[in-house]
Amino acid sequence: MSELSRVVVFATGKGGTGKTSCAANVAGLAAQAGMKTLLIDLDSQANLGYDLGYADSPAADNGKYLVKTLFNGEQSLAPVLEAVRPNLDVIPGGSELDELEEIVLARQRRGLEGRTILRDALRGIEDDYALIIIDTPPSRRSALVQLALAAARWIVIPTKSDRASIKGLSVLAEQVVAIREVNPEIDVLGAVLFGMGSAATVRRRFAAEDVRTVLGDSTLLFESIIRHAEAAADDGREKGKLIYELAEVVHNAEPYWKALKEGRSQSRIAGSAPALAEDYVLLTDELLKRIGAAEEAEATQNQAATA
Ligand SMILES: Nc1ncnc2c1ncn2[C@@H]1O[C@H](COP(=O)(O)OP(=O)(O)O)[C@@H](O)[C@H]1O
Ligand SMILES: [Mg+2]
Repeated sequence: MSELSRVVVFATGKGGTGKTSCAANVAGLAAQAGMKTLLIDLDSQANLGYDLGYADSPAADNGKYLVKTLFNGEQSLAPVLEAVRPNLDVIPGGSELDELEEIVLARQRRGLEGRTILRDALRGIEDDYALIIIDTPPSRRSALVQLALAAARWIVIPTKSDRASIKGLSVLAEQVVAIREVNPEIDVLGAVLFGMGSAATVRRRFAAEDVRTVLGDSTLLFESIIRHAEAAADDGREKGKLIYELAEVVHNAEPYWKALKEGRSQSRIAGSAPALAEDYVLLTDELLKRIGAAEEAEATQNQAATA
């Protein structure tokens, strides 16, 4: 098995397509299922901290640790926030990451390879985790995106089904080709339709066509989709809860009339949370199965090669 086989990067050529929501919820569900998981936030907006509820924790350092460690270049990374959920550690991002962008670009200007510093710093902790998930910023030219791609075994592309998003797909496809220069291991695991409204089946069929045109293979479109459920998404980000955690709250909530009768105001959670949670469960399952199948195919190939 290859060294970096369990590093999954969520990226797109366009902002607001669900990278952070998918990264947070897939990481949370994988951890919940017993996989030791590390989340790395490479976005200076640090939205992951809101989705997971650690944004206001004093240990959330806006990316300071990540910048310092990658700048020194000799140390291996360690988790900054341990057990934000059972089995889930985080290295937070934030405004400090602008400096990291500069570090990479400065190296490149001096003729050094700047894009591989995250990859190198991950070597020492990779074996501690069954899954490492990296969330990336929206900017397509960002050196931070390149850092993530250089470290990735797999890239997952959340996308909307509109034209602009499909164009974003091709931008990303070009970036993947370019990064192969330093990371020949990288592969697209698939694209996920995000924020899908009604008529999803028809839209999915068109999107599969687009995915085939851009990525060369329509099976790279995930079967699972993430439905449009803005209220649940907003609730989650505001309360620092993952969607399946919101769904549990809905499930365990006392009947609305009870609070009303006793004159209490009950905090209400969007009713769409359980359905959205199910989408994330299916996505996580499909993502892990795709990785598993690829690893198995690789192992068979290696066996055949050594036989
Ligand atoms: N299932 C959903 N349906 C509709 N809107 C959503 C859903 N999930 C998240 N959102 C909203 O979409 C926006 C973009 O999501 P986000 O995951 O932050 O994308 P990105 O990281 O690609 O910028 C956010 O404002 C978020 O609240
Ligand atoms: Mg984001």
